[in-house]
Amino acid sequence: MRLSVIGCGYVGLVTGACLAEAGHEVICTDIDAERIAQLKAGQVPIYERHLDKILVSAGKSGKISYTADAGEAIRFGEAIFICVGTPPRPDGSADLSAIDHVAQQIAAEARSPKLVVEKSTVPARTGLELQRALSAYSRGGNGFRVASNPEFLREGTAVEDFFHPDRIVVGVEDQAAADQLREIYRPILERNFTCPVHAGECPDIQKAEFLVTTISSAELIKHASNSFLALKISYANAVSDLCEKLGANVEEVTHAMGLDPRIGTQFLRAGLGFGGFCFPKDIQAFISLAATVGVDFEILKAAERVNKQRIDRFLEKIGKALWVVKGKRLAILGLAFKANTDDIRFAPALDVMRRLLEEGAEVHASDPEALAKAKKQFPQAHFHEDPYKALEGAHAALVCTEWDEYKKLDWEKAGKVMARKLIVDGRNLYSPAKIKALGFEYVSFGRE
Ligand code: UGA
Repeated sequence: MRLSVIGCGYVGLVTGACLAEAGHEVICTDIDAERIAQLKAGQVPIYERHLDKILVSAGKSGKISYTADAGEAIRFGEAIFICVGTPPRPDGSADLSAIDHVAQQIAAEARSPKLVVEKSTVPARTGLELQRALSAYSRGGNGFRVASNPEFLREGTAVEDFFHPDRIVVGVEDQAAADQLREIYRPILERNFTCPVHAGECPDIQKAEFLVTTISSAELIKHASNSFLALKISYANAVSDLCEKLGANVEEVTHAMGLDPRIGTQFLRAGLGFGGFCFPKDIQAFISLAATVGVDFEILKAAERVNKQRIDRFLEKIGKALWVVKGKRLAILGLAFKANTDDIRFAPALDVMRRLLEEGAEVHASDPEALAKAKKQFPQAHFHEDPYKALEGAHAALVCTEWDEYKKLDWEKAGKVMARKLIVDGRNLYSPAKIKALGFEYVSFGRE
C-alpha cells in the first residue's frame, strides 16, 4: 500500500522505515528541511538500533523516499500517519498545534479520500476533533476518515517492538478503516516479513493481538498504559525510600514482588526515575485531561512527585558522600534518559548536571551516544567519549544511565585514575559487595 508519514522524529522514522521493510511504499516528510536533506543523503538523524540498516535496504529497494514538500507526501499515500510532536504546554496539557497544522495541510493538499491515522500520543477525543477539523478545513470535501493507532515503541528497542508487538490497537469509526489498517499490518500479524532484528530467526514470541476499538478508547489506552508504567516505577522508588529507612534491600523486595504474575518483574527498577519524551509529558497530559472532565487523578500526581524527588534524593546522596560539592571534579556516566538511545529529552542526568554546575562542581560527562546533543546545552561542562577520561581525577563517579558499557566498566582500572574511589549509582548497576571489595565507597538506591 502507498503510505505517507508526516514527522520524521523517533516515532515517524521508525514507523516509516518498518512499514517500508514490511513491504509498503512509504514517503516521509518533515517540517525540518535539513532533516529531510540528511535522510536523502543517507544519514540517520537519530540513534536507534537497526534503523540505519533498514533505511539503507528500504532506500535501495525504492520502498522509502523523503520529501520536504508536505503536499507531495500527502498526495502520495492512501493512508497518512501523523507522527508529529505533542509537547507539554506550561500547564501540562498537550500542545496539539502541530497536529492542527498537519490537518490544515492535509485538507489543502489531498486530492483523493485518505485514511488519516494518529500515531502521535494525544489526549482522548483528539481524533474526533481532528475529524471535525479536516472536514471544516476542506469544507466537507474529500471524505477523510480518521483512526487512532497508538505506538508502543520503546526507544532503543523500537524496531524490535514494531515487528514483535504484543498488541496493535486501532481506534476507528468505521469497518473500512479497520480493514485498511489490518491490511497495513498484515505482514506483522501473519509474521510475513524478514525480521531485521533477528535475521529471520525470531524467537517464539506470542503473536500480536489486533484490537479494534473506538478512537477515544485507543487514545486512552496509550495514555493509560504509559501512566501505569510510570506509576509502577514511582511505586518501586517509594518502596526504595522505605527500604533505606528500614534497612531492607529494594532489589530483594521488588524481585520477590515481581514473581507474582499479577505484578510482574518489569518496571520495578528503583533509582533516578523515569525521563524521556514520553512518560513525563504523558503523565502530565493525562492528569490535565482528567482535570478537564472533573476527575482528580491524584494517584498520578503522587507518581510525578515521587519521580521529581529522585533528583533531590540523588543530590542529597552526592552531598552527603562528598561533604562539600563546590570545586569537586565529578564524572557523570550516562546522559541519555535511558540506555541504547541518544535521546536526552527530560533526561534525569541533565537535571543532575545542571544542579551540580549551579553548586560550583566541575562536571566531566561521558555517554556512548548522547554527547553531541548534550554538548550544545552545557557549554560549561566537559565531555569525553572515553568514560575513563571522564573519571580521571574525579572525586566521584555518578552513574545516571544504565548503559551496558557502564555495567561492564573496569572499576579496578578506573579506581587508579580517580582522585577518590567513590561511586554514587543512580541506576543500581553494581553489586555493593563486589564494588566495595575493590576498595570503593559505594552509594546506591534502596540498598544502604
Ligand atoms: C515508553 C513506553 O515504554 C513505550 O511503550 C511507549 O511507546 C513510549 O514510552 C512512547 O510513548 O513513545 P520509552 O520512553 O522509550 O518508552 O522508555 P521506557 O523504556 O519505557 O523507559 C522510560 C523511563 O523509565 C527511562 O528513563 C527509564 O530509565 C525509566 N525506568 C524504566 C526506570 O526508572 N525504572 C524501570 O524499572 C524502568
